[in-house]
Amino acid sequence: MSASPPLFVVLAAGKGTRMKSSEPKVLHKVAGQSMLAHVLATVSDVQGDVAVVVGPGMDAVATEARRVTPPAQVFVQATQQGTADAVLAARPALAGHSGDVVVLYADTPLIRPETVARLRAALDAGAHIAVLGFRAKDPTGYGRLLTGPKGTLSAIREEKDASEAERRIDLCNSGVMAFRVPDVGKLLGQIGNANAKGEFYLTDAIEIAVRSGLRAGVVECSEDEVLGVNARDQLAEAEAIWQKRARAQFMASGVTMIAPETVWLSFDTQIAPDVVIEPHVIFGVGVTIEEGVRILGFSHFEGAVIGKGARIGPFSRFRPGARIGADAHIGNFVEVKNTTLGPGAKANHLAYLGDGVIGAKANVGAGTIFCNYDGYAKHKTQIGEGAFIGSNSSLVAPVTIGAGAYVGSGSVITRDVTPGALALERSNQEERPGWAEKFRTLMLRRKATK
Ligand code: UD1
Ligand code: CA
Repeated sequence: MSASPPLFVVLAAGKGTRMKSSEPKVLHKVAGQSMLAHVLATVSDVQGDVAVVVGPGMDAVATEARRVTPPAQVFVQATQQGTADAVLAARPALAGHSGDVVVLYADTPLIRPETVARLRAALDAGAHIAVLGFRAKDPTGYGRLLTGPKGTLSAIREEKDASEAERRIDLCNSGVMAFRVPDVGKLLGQIGNANAKGEFYLTDAIEIAVRSGLRAGVVECSEDEVLGVNARDQLAEAEAIWQKRARAQFMASGVTMIAPETVWLSFDTQIAPDVVIEPHVIFGVGVTIEEGVRILGFSHFEGAVIGKGARIGPFSRFRPGARIGADAHIGNFVEVKNTTLGPGAKANHLAYLGDGVIGAKANVGAGTIFCNYDGYAKHKTQIGEGAFIGSNSSLVAPVTIGAGAYVGSGSVITRDVTPGALALERSNQEERPGWAEKFRTLMLRRKATK
């Protein structure tokens, strides 16, 4: 490896016209995280500098870059005149830098750190420029790598400028390139724009470098890792590849998935060993599932922590701030938001638990609603340890149910309940003996006289 740390230049200024979106392309998400963040995460473990090139007015892209990698330098490419022009927008970073330079495209989110390391190793092995290439099943749209004997690289030809014969080449440019040349800025400054798109192509650096006696090489990786996202169908393809990879990793680490292709994960999902996941489960951002949890089908999680041994679902929904204690049960059609359940607590059917704290072993009956919102502010519901909330109760927050207390079914509870008490809020049941028979007789008589 080069003695000085590398500079990673991440290109994110493209307009992304083919996405047909009002949002910059690189902010579109794969597994709940922007494509730009994926690429920045890939290089985050390497000690080095990071420069991100954004387009004019792309403040949201700059903000995202700084959020993920706070020391990143952000440069604005004044007019989008191609990938070489984009790298040159980072000239101040290039100028003050003596180590290797690695260029990555922010629209290529699936690349792994191991692969970037392999590319950089090619520089140690003697290449001045190393290009990450792949064999494309369908090379349409990619630049083709023109190789000489012994696998040396002589040029990259963009599709629009390629001859018939060149288009038949399936070895393609991923866009990821590593440079160990004395002055990358000077090399890129020699690139012209006499091509089909009238753009300054970074890929032309190869031909120019090779002509001046520098060595360029190719490092191959799998097509899955370097899928470039230009349109929405490719975004979906990138998502599918990412999901497949993540599911395989979880299964290898001891998680059971009955139908893995129906389980959707996020970039930061954490699942401990011996968790069993039934089909059709979605993990949004910020979810941790502890050991031995069983998740029945069609459950949805976001910003939730599920404690050891809990049983979840089917059809349970967890929103941000749900904290489920060990061995607790949450059953069908229960929505939990910003609520902590103590160990062994249960809410097995049809409930809304929002902004609450539920003690250990408490039992929340079917149809219980925490009325947490008055149209202006959210209020808290507290249920003590071992309390029992009868079915179809409304707990109007702020309200506290004491430990061990009972709430009778169908009650609307607006005042605190003393520990150990029974709170009932309903009118007395009335009974009229023989009423039904009299009613039927009356009705039949009326019908007969019509
Ligand atoms: C590029 C490569 C092509 C390669 C393919 C891999 C060039 C000339 N072509 O083509 O060889 O096979 O990627 O996916 O490099 N960008 C800027 N400023 C610009 C133009 C682009 O920052 O002026 C950024 C984009 O945001 C994107 C990346 O550079 O992240 C690639 O640009 P894009 O227009 O998508 O290039 P491709 O046509 O895909
Ligand atoms: Ca692209």
